[in-house]
Amino acid sequence: MKDKNGRLEGKVAIITGSGQGLGRAAALLFAQEGAKVAVVDVNSESSQDTVDIILQDGGDAIALEVDVGNVGDVQRMATETAHKYGRIDVLINNAAIYGGGVHVLEIDEDVWDAVMRINVKGTFLCSKQVIPYMQQHGGGSIVCVASVSGVLGNEHQADYNASKHAIIGLARCMAQDCRNDGIRVNVVSPTGMSTPGNENTAVQNLAPYVAMTMFGRLAEPIEVANAILFLASDDASYITGANLMVDGGVTAIQPSGRQLREGIAKFVKSSDSLL
Ligand SMILES: NC(=O)c1ccc[n+]([C@@H]2O[C@H](COP(=O)([O-])OP(=O)(O)OC[C@H]3O[C@@H](n4cnc5c(N)ncnc54)[C@H](O)[C@@H]3O)[C@@H](O)[C@H]2O)c1
Repeated sequence: MKDKNGRLEGKVAIITGSGQGLGRAAALLFAQEGAKVAVVDVNSESSQDTVDIILQDGGDAIALEVDVGNVGDVQRMATETAHKYGRIDVLINNAAIYGGGVHVLEIDEDVWDAVMRINVKGTFLCSKQVIPYMQQHGGGSIVCVASVSGVLGNEHQADYNASKHAIIGLARCMAQDCRNDGIRVNVVSPTGMSTPGNENTAVQNLAPYVAMTMFGRLAEPIEVANAILFLASDDASYITGANLMVDGGVTAIQPSGRQLREGIAKFVKSSDSLL
């Protein structure tokens, strides 16, 4: 086990969607910081892979096959974690799917329902099932993963963006409902990351996101995981109801005419070295 700072020593954390991508990066980081981790994913092979990495590194973790949109699965997630580790201190609502990527008039009702079921209802169900365990032990920390798409509008993403806007609203309300329980609820909103979730996205479609950051590159999952760790840990003891933008400055920029004309073209041209 790499020697970190023990910022989650003695804590038990559930991380949804941690079979790959950002969730996996957070699970590995949390384990290095001393947490016992429930690696939750609908894909049991990938969550077991994450657990194997943690165990090889000397950490402690269990894999749980869970569909976050299914109430029975989510109840089992909470009871099995509490049974195995005795408590639940941290919940990271990270599991999500993307939408159809089409004009609002072409969004299939089934796709809309699936995006809302996993992204919004999943965040609600996991929080609802875990909060009572946090109350039992005098507090806890919930971090929900939204997106820049939770605060801005994107073309052809009405389903996904609506779900991410909803997660931010849900988190703010849960922060208020849990204010007397010692439970903090916050949001991390990343911009584009290099994860398996977008590895099939064409360079031309990723390049504008790269161009809009102040760093001219996508985020590495660990850079977003570090922000999740901060909010999950006691270092953020006075922070609740916040939405931390981990977006390379995207939402701080109003592009100039020159930036609009030159920016994306420049990054598309040299995208191989930047993405
Ligand atoms: N990748 C990006 O560019 C980006 C940008 C902004 C925000 N985000 C957000 O960050 C989070 C992680 O993104 P990622 O790129 O690592 O995603 P990803 O697609 O690589 O991984 C998502 C994980 O969630 C799991 N999952 C999907 N449906 C599930 C369900 N019903 N129940 C349980 N698990 C389920 C998948 O099996 C997968 O392991 C998501 O909330 C995403 O919306 C991602």
